[in-house]
Amino acid sequence: MKNLEALFEHQLQDLYSAEDQLTKALPKMAKKAKDAKLKKAFEDHLEETKEHKTRIKEICDELDIKAKGETCKAMEGLIKEAEDFLKEVDDEDVMHAGMIAEAQRVEHYEISGYGTAVRYAKELGHKDIAAKLQKTLDEEYKADTTLNDLAEKRLNKKAI
Ligand SMILES: [Fe+2]
Repeated sequence: MKNLEALFEHQLQDLYSAEDQLTKALPKMAKKAKDAKLKKAFEDHLEETKEHKTRIKEICDELDIKAKGETCKAMEGLIKEAEDFLKEVDDEDVMHAGMIAEAQRVEHYEISGYGTAVRYAKELGHKDIAAKLQKTLDEEYKADTTLNDLAEKRLNKKAI
């Protein structure tokens, strides 16, 4: 990687891998969640995540780079951690609180990644791409807020 354009491309491939892994992990989380609102939050974000993956693919096509090529090891680790947690927990309310904690780690990771990508896109003069990435970033923030509300309003208290 010799310049910001190359670094930007690397970040896009990393985000593509992260979104791809999430499209496989979120259905499992939705299936496990017994709380209706939490289940819906996972299902809704799965649909958004599919769209996020499509957006990155479109951006890569536009830049004439392969979307595939990187494995996002951080996302691999976050998903593994969530899976391990689900194996260990045996109380349903604690499971819900913990699932939110794991999912918010994922959202924060994505917010960081997209925040960087938006900035690079702007600095490189890719105005339309920056707008597309910003749309995803806004949706990641929204998903994080939804999870936060669920935790604060009900699910943490139930787990006490
Ligand atoms: Fe996403």
